[in-house]
Amino acid sequence: MKKINFFYILFSFLIISALGYQGCSEIKDNLVTAPQIGVHPAGWSDESSGSFHGKYIFNNKAWNLNQCKTCHGSDYRGGNTGASCYDCHTSSGGPQNCRLCHGGNSGHSNPPKALNGETGVSSLGVGVHVYHLDSTKYSAQVECSECHTPLSEGFSSPDHIGNNPDGIAEINFGPLSKTITVFEGGQFEPAPVWDRNSATCSNSYCHGNFKDGNVSASPKWTDRESVKCGSCHGDPVTGNPNPLPNGNFFHPHFPNFTINTCYQCHGLVINSAGAIIDPEKHVNGVVNFNSR
Ligand code: HEC
Ligand code: HEC
Ligand code: HEC
Ligand code: HEC
Ligand code: HEC
Ligand code: HEC
Repeated sequence: MKKINFFYILFSFLIISALGYQGCSEIKDNLVTAPQIGVHPAGWSDESSGSFHGKYIFNNKAWNLNQCKTCHGSDYRGGNTGASCYDCHTSSGGPQNCRLCHGGNSGHSNPPKALNGETGVSSLGVGVHVYHLDSTKYSAQVECSECHTPLSEGFSSPDHIGNNPDGIAEINFGPLSKTITVFEGGQFEPAPVWDRNSATCSNSYCHGNFKDGNVSASPKWTDRESVKCGSCHGDPVTGNPNPLPNGNFFHPHFPNFTINTCYQCHGLVINSAGAIIDPEKHVNGVVNFNSR
């Protein structure tokens, strides 16, 4: 309520000053530089302008769009301004459409692009999202919920932007990265950690924190080359995936095994050429061997 009052006052002030301004315009004509269009600055609708509304929203962390809604209506159809966001933002949800801020391909609405507009892997907001979501190569698609709390109420979920956004995505690991593996005498209980400063992830099941895995592997989110075939289990230097934790081979794996040997026991996952033939069975939380 307070906010609405504020905007009423602001709005009336702007109209009054605009009227007053017009009255004096004859005298002050040569002082007029950038004319205001209504309540917004010139260039507000022009993407190439420094006053563009997309830049305003980014610079002021105004992503929850509450400000805009006070005048343009909570449905963004214009309210009493007569200017609907849907005039330009025609996709479903209008300016709440996930892809407006996050980019993504059909079916997904994940970066690229990042909030700051970046699209390269070396940018924190972009990173290797695309490779985690590619279900055609090494594993099934890693669901958003394995790294982020799901948005129970879409755009307006309290877990999404909130009232005081910092512009940094929250990381909350899901069940796959915490998969427990049991061995004689104990078990591995991965407690995955995201370190934003180094852009690395450590202690996750997915990247090696399991029995006979490379438990101290810490892949870098912004460097695709930081993960190789042998990174999570095997030899990260040569890329050979044959499990070699702490330099020791564990039964039933032997030093002479190559990528062309694995299929003999893991034939549902990999073929004799060393290609993953069923990504759904790789990094799925279960060791698939023989007929299972
Ligand atoms: C104080 C009320 C008010 C607020 C707050 C407000 N607007 Fe507006 N807006 C208007 C009015 C009135 C118009 C129509 C007259 C004009 O163009 O200025 C308008 C026009 C626009 C236009 C131009 C529409 C066109 O067809 O060219 C855009 C874009 C826009 N607003 C975006 C926004 C965004 C984004 C926000 C939130 C960051 C916002 N507005 C907040 C009152 C407001
Ligand atoms: C005159 C056309 C027009 C109107 C009206 C308009 N927008 Fe935009 N808006 C754009 C364009 C163009 C972009 C930049 C291109 C893009 O990102 O799709 C943009 C970008 C944005 C972005 C930034 C997305 C990002 O991450 O880069 C937000 C948020 C946004 N608009 C909100 C609104 C809201 C809220 C309204 C209504 C109050 C509104 N817009 C009305 C044209 C418009
Ligand atoms: C393997 C883990 C992982 C998965 C899976 C994942 N993300 Fe992310 N996401 C991250 C990391 C790490 C960041 C960067 C966090 C930071 O900036 O501190 C991030 C950031 C983001 C951001 C913020 C971008 C920015 O500009 O800062 C959005 C939006 C996002 N993810 C959406 C998604 C969506 C949608 C999905 C599913 C389609 C998804 N993510 C899947 C790890 C993941
Ligand atoms: C107007 C811009 C905007 C739109 C539209 C938008 N988001 Fe976001 N999103 C953000 C911002 C800003 C963040 C970072 C949140 C913060 O500052 O804490 C974010 C963060 C995220 C994250 C990372 C996890 C988190 O909550 O921090 C996911 C996942 C996400 N958005 C998914 C979506 C989905 C799905 C949609 C469509 C329903 C959507 N977003 C629409 C701005 C937007
Ligand atoms: C002689 C059969 C056999 C061959 C050949 C074989 N594995 Fe295994 N592998 C197994 C069995 C059995 C397990 C389950 C061990 C357990 O649960 O204790 C296993 C487990 C694994 C695991 C999970 C970690 C572990 O040790 O439990 C990985 C990773 C793995 N194998 C990778 C490979 C790769 C890569 C190759 C090829 C270089 C390969 N294996 C070749 C039989 C084999
Ligand atoms: C991101 C970490 C990661 C990378 C990179 C990786 N693996 Fe794995 N791999 C795992 C995990 C975790 C398991 C444990 C079983 C499971 O969850 O599927 C596994 C298990 C296996 C197994 C045993 C069968 C099974 O159950 O999946 C084979 C064979 C295998 N990997 C081969 C490969 C090959 C070949 C490559 C390189 C193309 C590779 N891996 C790269 C994480 C990885």
